[in-house]
Amino acid sequence: MRFAYVMDPLERLLPDKDTTFAIVRAAQARGHEALHVEPRDLFVEGGDLYAYASRLSLSRDPPHHALGPREAIKVAETQGVLIRKDPPFDQAYLYATLLLERVRNRTTLVNDPRGLREANEKLYTLHFSRHTPMTWVGANRDAIVSFMSAVGGRAVIKPLDGAGGAGVMRLSEGDKNNRCIIDLLTREGTSAVLVQEYLEDVVRGDKRVLLLDGRILGAINRVPREDDLRSNIHVGGRVEPCRVTARERDVVEDIAPRLRADGLVFVGLDFIGERLTEINVTSPTGIQELSKHEGRDVAADVVEWLEKKAEELRPVLRSIPAG
Ligand SMILES: Nc1ncnc2c1ncn2[C@@H]1O[C@H](COP(=O)(O)OP(=O)(O)O)[C@@H](O)[C@H]1O
Ligand SMILES: [Mg+2]
Repeated sequence: MRFAYVMDPLERLLPDKDTTFAIVRAAQARGHEALHVEPRDLFVEGGDLYAYASRLSLSRDPPHHALGPREAIKVAETQGVLIRKDPPFDQAYLYATLLLERVRNRTTLVNDPRGLREANEKLYTLHFSRHTPMTWVGANRDAIVSFMSAVGGRAVIKPLDGAGGAGVMRLSEGDKNNRCIIDLLTREGTSAVLVQEYLEDVVRGDKRVLLLDGRILGAINRVPREDDLRSNIHVGGRVEPCRVTARERDVVEDIAPRLRADGLVFVGLDFIGERLTEINVTSPTGIQELSKHEGRDVAADVVEWLEKKAEELRPVLRSIPAG
């Protein structure tokens, strides 16, 4: 089978950390071809979607990856497209998801481009507020200060388009930086941010639960550095093995139908103290660390799922007359 990966340039990725690499490697081990595509490589001609794609092969030895020549391919002729571009979800990202609509029902899309447009990683949790910490969203600066006081004098403020901990900061009553932080993140009160009750449990870690088609693949715990609020691996969070608690399982069960309905197949939920803080859908990470802890290649589960979907789609595609 041939799978296309809509992703960032390879130079930015770490072969022994990156989840997309792990999936490509698992697919390669199962005999499938990988095509590397950047959003700017997508194009529509005569109404159909194409991409300038390069065949990607991975190896153990540095530089760990090799790209073949760029060739125009018909995207519908692949068996799956994995949209694995890192945030921010900017206009180029938005347009890429709209172009990918051309191949809906003709190849398997992970995650569904419509779902990616729907599920802002911070705001999507608002559908499940019974599982989240107390949350306020908006741009009004005085209201943010009031919310911080109302939730106990400490809060966490986050940009809506960030990832990897970028721009996530703590507000504490009495801190003279509060107003400046709020000005900065709301762009002087003009742009909405998310503000959340501060969860003390964060010092014990931020748990990433990886889901495949609404089912739990496994979880890793990320413990922040002593001198940082943020647990993200990207900013120095330490990874440790962990279990998924009964309460977290209940949350997953509760939100899985919505994820399935939105075509959000490969998803990373973030939990702090069993409260849901974020739903990562653009390019969730953690599979390599999870595989290490579990002693098996968890990425192979993702590839198996794609294989199954492609088999299911095959007879359907055959029944559609050519042209
Ligand atoms: N409500 C909260 N209380 C305490 N710490 C938090 C809270 N929300 C986020 N954090 C800390 O900030 C980090 C980044 O926040 P998160 O919402 O996951 O955004 P990102 O998309 O940048 O990962 C988390 O890993 C956690 O360490
Ligand atoms: Mg996070």
